[in-house]
Amino acid sequence: MGCDRNCGLIAGAVIGAVLAVLGGILMPVGDMIIQKTIKKEVVLEEGTIAFKNWVKTGTEVYRQFWIFDVQNPQEVAVNSSKIKLMQRGPYTYRVRYLAKENITHDSENHTVSFVQPHGAIFEPSLSVGTENDTFTVLNLAVAAAAHLYENPFVQVVLNSLIKKSKSSMFQTRTLKELLWGYKDPFLSLVPYPVPTTVGVFYPYNNTVDGVYQVFTGKDNISKVAIINTYKGKKNLSYWSGYCDMVNGTDAASFPPFVEKTRVLQFFSSDICRKTRLHFTSSFSACKS
Ligand SMILES: *[C@@H]1O[C@H](CO)[C@@H](O)[C@H](O)[C@H]1NC(C)=O
Ligand SMILES: *[C@@H]1O[C@H](CO)[C@@H](O)[C@H](O)[C@H]1NC(C)=O
Ligand SMILES: *[C@@H]1O[C@H](CO)[C@@H](O)[C@H](O)[C@H]1NC(C)=O
Ligand SMILES: *[C@@H]1O[C@H](CO)[C@@H](O)[C@H](O)[C@H]1NC(C)=O
Ligand SMILES: *[C@@H]1O[C@H](CO)[C@@H](O)[C@H](O)[C@H]1NC(C)=O
Ligand SMILES: *[C@@H]1O[C@H](CO)[C@@H](O)[C@H](O)[C@H]1NC(C)=O
Ligand SMILES: *[C@@H]1O[C@H](CO)[C@@H](O)[C@H](O)[C@H]1NC(C)=O
Ligand SMILES: *[C@@H]1O[C@H](CO)[C@@H](O)[C@H](O)[C@H]1NC(C)=O
Repeated sequence: MGCDRNCGLIAGAVIGAVLAVLGGILMPVGDMIIQKTIKKEVVLEEGTIAFKNWVKTGTEVYRQFWIFDVQNPQEVAVNSSKIKLMQRGPYTYRVRYLAKENITHDSENHTVSFVQPHGAIFEPSLSVGTENDTFTVLNLAVAAAAHLYENPFVQVVLNSLIKKSKSSMFQTRTLKELLWGYKDPFLSLVPYPVPTTVGVFYPYNNTVDGVYQVFTGKDNISKVAIINTYKGKKNLSYWSGYCDMVNGTDAASFPPFVEKTRVLQFFSSDICRKTRLHFTSSFSACKS
């Protein structure tokens, strides 16, 4: 007796029902296996996938800068005119590409300590110009000196040094100089041993910003990479209140199973404070 049309339909329905039931059972089991694997592999300890990617960041991390270029320095200096600024950027650098150093595990408290050496490589393809682009900005050394030494006699001396070095309230410098340091002509004339190199992030290459201690997540997966202490403390002792707390991760990674409602906190020593991220929308990051 061959399989007729009805028989085929019934067999199909039965097989379908069996698969649906199996699927219903296997889906949660599969989820459990995936969750368990993730929980095992994201812990920051020797041998996990996450640890390897954490010691030396597996993905490319960029930092972008926008700079306010003063359009009317003469008018401001001579006539106290209202300053006109033009924002220029982004100028992009690849950062966090150096491996973490001095990694020490504390298995008792489930933490790991390390230092993160700094490095920054200019990325022309993600920038509007080159590192040689010039900007007119406030002369940091000149502006700071007048503030630091209010004594009239000292100010007269400083004024003559500023004039002698042909410095003024504004200066024109390249992006590279502004960020990573330049020898200041005015400070070079000061007859005391003062640091003469000025730069927003000077010194940067191969320096470290301090010892971080983060949770490995072994006892609690929600704590992976969250900073416990920075330079041995939970607070910065720099601001008062909220900004002074060291919370969250270093932004290079976050704990897994994050819900959209969760506020992600991170700490950045470059701006000397913590900050946070709120979910707004999804986007797909495609890279060819
Ligand atoms: C300053 O203002 C005067 C009078 O308005 C003007 O003649 C002069 O060109 C201004 N100087 C600068 C540098 O803008
Ligand atoms: C890393 O450890 C070495 C040896 O213990 C020590 O000499 C060095 O100062 C440490 N580096 C930092 C940045 O703490
Ligand atoms: C673990 O943490 C406790 C409390 O903060 C501290 O007293 C202890 O020294 C830590 N253990 C290690 C091995 O650092
Ligand atoms: C920092 O190091 C990177 C990589 O070696 C180099 O490309 C960059 O020019 C250096 N920056 C400075 C300011 O020396
Ligand atoms: C920037 O200027 C330096 C020194 O003048 C020069 O060696 C370098 O080639 C310039 N870079 C670019 C991208 O123009
Ligand atoms: C795990 O850590 C998270 C974040 O710090 C905390 O909210 C949660 O209560 C912890 N869970 C347990 C079981 O300790
Ligand atoms: C932030 O860190 C401070 C100091 O360690 C701690 O008291 C506070 O509970 C943390 N806040 C959050 C939201 O994690
Ligand atoms: C850190 O600062 C916060 C806010 O000012 C404060 O509540 C907390 O007690 C401080 N923690 C420590 C360890 O000093």
